[in-house]
Amino acid sequence: MLDIQELSKKAVDWAKEAGKKSIELRKKQIKIKYKSSPSDLVTEVDQEIEKFLIGQILSSYSDHGIVGEEGFFKGDPKEYDTLWIIDPIDGTTNFVHQQVNYVISIAVVHKGEGLIGVVYDPTRDELFFAKKGEGATLNDRPIHLQTPVPLREGLICTSLFWNQRTEKLGLDHLVDELPRSCRGIRIYGCAALEMAYVAAGRVDAYISLSLNPWDFAASKIILEEAGGITSTIDGSTLTFEKANSVVASNPFLYKELMEFVARN
Ligand code: IPD
Ligand code: CA
Ligand code: CA
Ligand code: CA
Repeated sequence: MLDIQELSKKAVDWAKEAGKKSIELRKKQIKIKYKSSPSDLVTEVDQEIEKFLIGQILSSYSDHGIVGEEGFFKGDPKEYDTLWIIDPIDGTTNFVHQQVNYVISIAVVHKGEGLIGVVYDPTRDELFFAKKGEGATLNDRPIHLQTPVPLREGLICTSLFWNQRTEKLGLDHLVDELPRSCRGIRIYGCAALEMAYVAAGRVDAYISLSLNPWDFAASKIILEEAGGITSTIDGSTLTFEKANSVVASNPFLYKELMEFVARN
């Protein structure tokens, strides 16, 4: 039997400890490597934090599986009922260049259902949190999306899609027309933070053509508990087991946004 209370406390403690580590380690010279290209970075801090989180999780829950971006846990996710989906640092490019706008993202998923979401922004000391069925909080204050917002008054976050495959997908109007159809576009370069900001009502929607489960898992749980909606860009259910496009939205904006996306 899973003790959700205990799981939550540990997930939060470890996210905060990892956040503290990220700030400490960043003060020193750090090694930065290219993964697939000069715009795809990994640092020794990403790796150290992933190893730290894996160590903590397995010392308390040796029968749980872990999916992490840097791939230090070797088990097959399909073999575990309970999975921790972690991004040790979401927003590595920001971490390297700006030392802000990055987060530690931790989700606990049981048999495909999101139980706990933790997104911790260490430089602002902001903790976005949700437990399935019990609502979402920002630094322990409940967050719940209640204000209708039409697209023309919405602030929309994206991962940059003007250098992606919008033409092939028939989505060029997102590049050409979305900026003029809403109040403004924001790009923070940290998917988990951007989705958590939708949950907190700081922006009204977030769209990405391609994210991995560790980018969206924790924030999806938080946003849905805050009353928001997530789906893929074609309106299908967003599940935790594979990479996908992501729409994360204020519930009142979702229909209008999806109609805009589906246009053409
Ligand atoms: C990236 C960030 C970015 C998103 C990329 C992700 P990383 O994660 O979330 O905002 O556009 O798709 O890969 O590599 O910094 O953990
Ligand atoms: Ca990365
Ligand atoms: Ca990420
Ligand atoms: Ca990462």
